[in-house]
Amino acid sequence: MTQSAPEKRLYIKTYGCQMNVYDSERMADVLRPLGYAVTDEPEGADLVVLNTCHIREKATEKVYSELGQLKLMKRRKADAGGTMNIVVAGCVAQAEGEEIMRRQPAVDLVVGPQAYHQLPELIARTHRATGERLSADFAADEKFDALPTERHVTGVTAFLTVQEGCDKFCTFCVVPYTRGGEWSRPADAVIAEARDLAAKGVREVTLLGQNVNAYDGCDGGLAGLVRQLAKVEGLDRIRYTTSHPRDMDEALIAAHGEVEALMPYLHLPVQSGSDRILKAMNRGHTAEHYLRLVERIRAARPDIAMSCDFIVGFPGERDSDFEATLSLVREVGYAGSFSFKYSRRPGTPASAMPGQVAEQVMDERLQRLNALLQDQAAAFNQSVVGRVAPVLIEKTGRHDGQIGGRSPWLQPVHIDGPASLIGQILPVRIEAATRNSLTGSLVLEPA
Ligand code: 5AD
Ligand code: SF4
Repeated sequence: MTQSAPEKRLYIKTYGCQMNVYDSERMADVLRPLGYAVTDEPEGADLVVLNTCHIREKATEKVYSELGQLKLMKRRKADAGGTMNIVVAGCVAQAEGEEIMRRQPAVDLVVGPQAYHQLPELIARTHRATGERLSADFAADEKFDALPTERHVTGVTAFLTVQEGCDKFCTFCVVPYTRGGEWSRPADAVIAEARDLAAKGVREVTLLGQNVNAYDGCDGGLAGLVRQLAKVEGLDRIRYTTSHPRDMDEALIAAHGEVEALMPYLHLPVQSGSDRILKAMNRGHTAEHYLRLVERIRAARPDIAMSCDFIVGFPGERDSDFEATLSLVREVGYAGSFSFKYSRRPGTPASAMPGQVAEQVMDERLQRLNALLQDQAAAFNQSVVGRVAPVLIEKTGRHDGQIGGRSPWLQPVHIDGPASLIGQILPVRIEAATRNSLTGSLVLEPA
């Protein structure tokens, strides 16, 4: 019997947004031909990649604390005669590569988001001499061209990056600096990747981009791309995130009413309900503009689930501004949302603005906003109880004989049923709801 070369163990920890989840999968794809197999335990791994996020302060601090743990694991492995290479990737790597190398000497390589395709070469170099650092440029097209065309698929849903970067320069945000300007992947490359995914059993794709609805890689923008993807055999559900209100054009709104595969869910961040704050944030829209936009979207697709991002405590935010945010939330009625305390990001215009808001005030506002958003999420989930909804069965459930899937509105649904149903879209009668999920039972279709 011949023995194949032992697999090298690769541990990737992903922080932050879904684009990082996609990037991590692609890093694994790039490294697989070199003999690296993904493991879910860092202890003993040959290569550890931290795919980092720089969007808020805590995200960065978590990376440094993780690196402290990894340093000890690296030492233990060395004591046992092995090696562990530590790579810091993602937006923290891009923003403060040198600082990372200085603060944590156990790090072998720092690599920004546009240079993942060079990982094999860079890792080979770190094997020879540690301390190599790559300052990534913003040639996103080069990266995508160099990534393997084949993807390793593990489920029936997948992320697919179609756009990167941002030109909007909201005054609180680091993304335009860490991810560069807006760039769209050509539609034929996206379609080819979607076909590959569908052939491997993927039934739902989520198109990703920091400003995904600014996509301009084909005629008709994102709406044109969605219409082309809807024709890909086997691909039954399409979602996209994250969108900017300024790029929500008529064609995309119309697609929500016309393209059956486009799911009735839209993450459309507003950040604040106060025009004064929106102006200071450089958002390029008012609260009224956003509300009218939601109205038009709901006219096209009345059952659409709206989701949002909010920042509380942006510099200069007064009680009256925060009240305006609450009032916008009440007017829209969200299915689910994310809210954050403003976090001062070095180098962004807002970090130098007067009127930084006290932590305690931010805490109170966040609590009030979250309470309202949670009530709305519970109400939204409750509103589908009693209905029969098509659910994409994605995985086995926590208990034996249980399976889990997603409703068209992105709610997790728990159902009793066999694992053999994974990958099917089946009618489910929704029987109960909590703030976070639904419970239902399979409706047996007449033969
Ligand atoms: N502070 C707090 N939240 C932020 N976000 C982006 N930058 C900051 C910051 N400096 C939030 C925004 C954005 C989401 C991805 O993260 O709400 O939509
Ligand atoms: Fe950041 Fe604003 Fe761009 Fe979103 S639109 S990535 S919040 S700068």
